Amino acid sequence: MRKQIAAANWKMNLTYGAAEALLNDILKEQVALAPDQKVIFAVPFPYLIMAKSGVEEEQGYSIAAQNCYSKSSGAYTGEVSAEMLQSIGIKYCVIGHSERREYFGESAEMLAEKVDLCLQHEIEPVFCCGEALNIREEGAQNNYVQTQLEASLFHLTEDQMLKVIIAYEPIWAIGTGKTASSVQAQEMHAHIRSVFAAKYGDEVANNISILYGGSVKGSNAAELFSKPDVDGGLVGGASLVATDFVEIIKALKR
Ligand code: PGA
Repeated sequence: MRKQIAAANWKMNLTYGAAEALLNDILKEQVALAPDQKVIFAVPFPYLIMAKSGVEEEQGYSIAAQNCYSKSSGAYTGEVSAEMLQSIGIKYCVIGHSERREYFGESAEMLAEKVDLCLQHEIEPVFCCGEALNIREEGAQNNYVQTQLEASLFHLTEDQMLKVIIAYEPIWAIGTGKTASSVQAQEMHAHIRSVFAAKYGDEVANNISILYGGSVKGSNAAELFSKPDVDGGLVGGASLVATDFVEIIKALKR
C-alpha cells in the first residue's frame, strides 16, 4: 500500500536554534503514525545532522535534504552530493522544486541525473512537478506535467520508480495562499497516476505516493488529503508553524 506522507519544506528559513525549537515543538506532540504514514522534514543542509538525531525513524519520522548536486563528486565548490547525504544517513531528498528550476536553472536532464544519483545512494527522491499560472490558464497543465515526468523519470526501471515520491506543486499556489481546490488537486493527481500506469502498469502506479504542495495549511489539509489520489502534502509556509504542521500530520489518511 502506498504511503501517506506529510513533508515539511523549510526552504531557506530558520536559524539553528529556531530550527531545533520548531522540530522539538512538533515532535513533542508525539503524533503516532500508522505503518503506512510518514512525516519527513526537508531541512537546510547545516541542520541535517541535528534534525536526524532528533527524529525516531522507527516511528515513521525522517529527515530529507532539499537538494543535491547532479555530479557524484569533484571540483564543484559549494555543492553537496547524494553520497555525502547517504554518509550521514539521509534517506530522502527533494529534487526539482520549482524554485530550483526557476532560480537555479535546473533542467530536466540535470534532474534526471540527480534522481539517478539519489537512487544509487539509497535516497528516495521527492520529485516535484507543476505548472505556472499561464499554463493552467491555457488549459495545458496535464501535458506540461506529463512532459516533466517523462523527461526526468521515464528512464527509471519499475523498481526504481517505486522508490520515487511525487510532489505536484502548481507554481501559482506556492507561497501565494491560493490553494488548488481539492477537486483540481485530485484531477491532476489522477492524471499523474494514469501517466505512470501507462508507462509502468497499474500496480506500480498505485504504489507511488503523490503529494500535493501549494499553500497547504492546517485548515485545508484534511479536505485535500481526503481525495483518493492525494497521498499527503509537501508543505512550505505552514510547516514553519508547529501547531499548523501538527494539524497537517493529523490530517493524513489512514
Ligand atoms: P507553500 O510551499 O506551502 O509555502 O506554498 C510549498 C512548497 O514550495 O513546497
